[in-house]
Amino acid sequence: WPAYAPLVHAINTLKTQKNAVVLAHNYMTPDIFALVGDYRGDSLGLAIEATKTEADMIIQGGVHFMAETSKILCPDKRVFIPSMRAGCSLASSITGEDVRLIKQRYPGLPVVTYVNTSADVKAESDICCTSSNAVAIVEHIAAEWGVDKVIMLPDEFLAKNVARQTGIEIIAWHGRCEVHARFSAEDVRDMRAANPGVVVLAHPECPPEVVAESDFTGSTKAMSDYVGDRNPAKVILLTECSMSDNVAMANPTVDFVRPCNLCPHMKRITLENLYECLRDETNEVLVPEPMRAQAYEAVMRMINVSF
Ligand code: 13P
Ligand code: SF4
Repeated sequence: WPAYAPLVHAINTLKTQKNAVVLAHNYMTPDIFALVGDYRGDSLGLAIEATKTEADMIIQGGVHFMAETSKILCPDKRVFIPSMRAGCSLASSITGEDVRLIKQRYPGLPVVTYVNTSADVKAESDICCTSSNAVAIVEHIAAEWGVDKVIMLPDEFLAKNVARQTGIEIIAWHGRCEVHARFSAEDVRDMRAANPGVVVLAHPECPPEVVAESDFTGSTKAMSDYVGDRNPAKVILLTECSMSDNVAMANPTVDFVRPCNLCPHMKRITLENLYECLRDETNEVLVPEPMRAQAYEAVMRMINVSF
C-alpha cells in the first residue's frame, strides 16, 4: 500500500460519518484532488457545488477566499479550511476600505471584483467574477449600467486581459498573482523553440504579453477542458504546478512540458492537515453578518449571469 492509503481511507470514512464533502481546487496535489475530493474544479465550479451540496460540512481543498465564498453562499453549513495560512497574494492586496475609497473617486461606475478577494471586499462590490466568466461579467455590467468604463479589482493583469478582449475601459488595482506574474513572454518563446509544435495554454492572471504569446487563455477548468477535448500531442500549462499533474492523470496520451510555479498558499493544504481538520473540526471559516449578506448579493449576481 502507498504511504498515503491509510489517511485517504480515514478521510473518506470520516466524510461519510460526518456528512462532509471535500471541494478540491485544480491546484490541489493529486492525492487530495483525485483520492479525497468529492468535487473538483475551478473557483466558479466549486462555488456552484457549494450551493448544491446536501452535506452538513464543507472542507475546502483550496485557499481562504474559496472557503469564505462557500460560507457566503451557504451560511447554514459549517465550512472548514485545513490551514488558515492558505492565503492569496491577490486577496491580500486590497481591503474593503480601499474599495470604498475607489468608489468615492469614481462615482457612477460599477465595481467588478474577482472572487480572489476577502469577504469585506466582495461586500463592497456590485458583482463578482472569476477567471472563467470575467469577460462576460464585465460586458454584462457595462451594458446594465449603460457605461463604457468599469472598475475591476484587484488583479491588474486580469483587468488588462479583459480590457483587451472587451474594448471596455477598465480602472484597475495593482494586485498580482505571485504565481502567474512570474511567467514571461521570453519564457514562452524559449519553450516553443525547445518544443516545436507545442500548444501553450495560459491562465488570464498571467501578464498580457504572456497571454499574447499563448494559443489559448482560460480558467483552470477551461484549460483542463481544452486538453481533454482537443488532445494536443504536447502541451504547456502556464499555471500552478499541480494542474499539469492532475490534467495529465486524465489525459495519459498527452505529453506535458512542465514549467510550473508553485503556489505556496495552495501547497499549505496537505492530506495530513485535511485529515486533522475533518477529525477535530478546527479552522472553521466564519463571515459576520451583515457583511456576508452583502457579499452574497455580489457572488449570486455573478452566478445568475453565468447561467
Ligand atoms: P480558477 O478560477 O481559474 O480556478 O483560478 C483560481 C486561482 O486562484 C488561479 O490562480
Ligand atoms: Fe492566489 Fe495566485 Fe495562489 Fe491562485 S495561484 S491562490 S491567485 S496566489
